[in-house]
Amino acid sequence: MTPYEIISQKRDGKPLSDTEIDFFISSFMSGKITDYQMTALLMAIYIRDMDSRETSALTRAYIRSGETIDLSAVSGRKIDKHSTGGVGDKVSIILAPLVASLGVAVPMISGRGLGHSGGTLDKLESIPGFRTDLPVAQFRQLVQQHRLGLIGQTRDIVPADKRIYALRDVTATVDCIPLISASIMSKKIAEGIDGLVLDVKYGNGAFMKDAAQAEQLAHSLIAIGREFGKEVVALLTSMEQPLGNAIGNWLEIRECLDCFQGKGPEDLMEVTLALAGEMLQLGGAADSAEDARRQCQEALHSGRAFDKFLDICRAQGADTAWLRDPAQVPPAAERRTLAAGRSGYLSRMDTFAIGMASVQLGAGRLRAEDDVDPLAGIVLHKKLGDPLQAGEALLEIHTRRADTCDPVLKRLESAITIADAPPEIPPLILKKMSS
Ligand code: URA
Repeated sequence: MTPYEIISQKRDGKPLSDTEIDFFISSFMSGKITDYQMTALLMAIYIRDMDSRETSALTRAYIRSGETIDLSAVSGRKIDKHSTGGVGDKVSIILAPLVASLGVAVPMISGRGLGHSGGTLDKLESIPGFRTDLPVAQFRQLVQQHRLGLIGQTRDIVPADKRIYALRDVTATVDCIPLISASIMSKKIAEGIDGLVLDVKYGNGAFMKDAAQAEQLAHSLIAIGREFGKEVVALLTSMEQPLGNAIGNWLEIRECLDCFQGKGPEDLMEVTLALAGEMLQLGGAADSAEDARRQCQEALHSGRAFDKFLDICRAQGADTAWLRDPAQVPPAAERRTLAAGRSGYLSRMDTFAIGMASVQLGAGRLRAEDDVDPLAGIVLHKKLGDPLQAGEALLEIHTRRADTCDPVLKRLESAITIADAPPEIPPLILKKMSS
């Protein structure tokens, strides 16, 4: 068995055995297989696909590349949530403390912003002092004590994914169902959870552009979960427009504070409550969707969920002054408004372009080593279907990069379509799938 033979086998559309997959990943990690051989195999997988057995074998090989977290000392069922990525998706920041405040343990390992899509870690780190780079032992302790921990990928958990993801990112091999499935599920399985709720996004701001592709991805993720004895529920949700109104790290945290006060945007709350409901049911804390929703509403209304958020922020090193009084936070130096060029209805948003505009303003990274500006981003004043008068404000940009304002406003103008008739808006929550 040589790397050459394995690459050519996949190139010719033949399935790889579990041993071949394991050999390739372990040899890559030990330095016997080079980056260019790995990228050749990735491209062959991208073009030729993998069946479910191969995808499970790839997931297993990824998990074997590092440590797994033992959360057996934490009582009760451990349930996480993962989104396949979108624009303005700040659901985890509301949902994780909400669910933990109702007794279900939530060990959450999140990612950074990737391309046009934001990352939970960057958002949390816009809160002064919040540390996401905690060692596993401390993470375990947080989950034990607070029923919640919010950290980033460590060097020791699925290191194969970290290295392979970096190659996929620069070789046009990200949006591939078996590669996405192994990448996501290996990290979630290594995290020591019992169950997982997935938010599989579809639409022009998601990796999966249509519902059929998203459904295929959900099937693949659920099948791997089943194979590893994890209960998995997936909701297919729309990313045909940003979720909520805020895009950008601190702007999104600020919107989460509104949600904790019961003043969150409707679409964001709908997705959050639906996913939280599934987590509570998987965690054994609610016996129906209605019971879960009632408990969530009580935890938000009473302030219990917000108190849990403040607790975990303090436990992870944050100064909570901004969270208790967001009005004291100085706004970004440059703020400009985009006005509607004509009257009509907001009929289409190019969500990918809006996400990239936010990156350009400083909210995300163009290269892995770039810093993010916590205050940069976009606040939408209008959403799909809203009636508009010419000259009315569509959105506001926030940045410290004065030179980006004109090009970004131009980009945003062409990302938004205004038409005479109201558009058909795709369902926000399309369907639920489970193992
Ligand atoms: N998120 C991941 O963790 N991996 C992917 O491949 C895509 C999204």
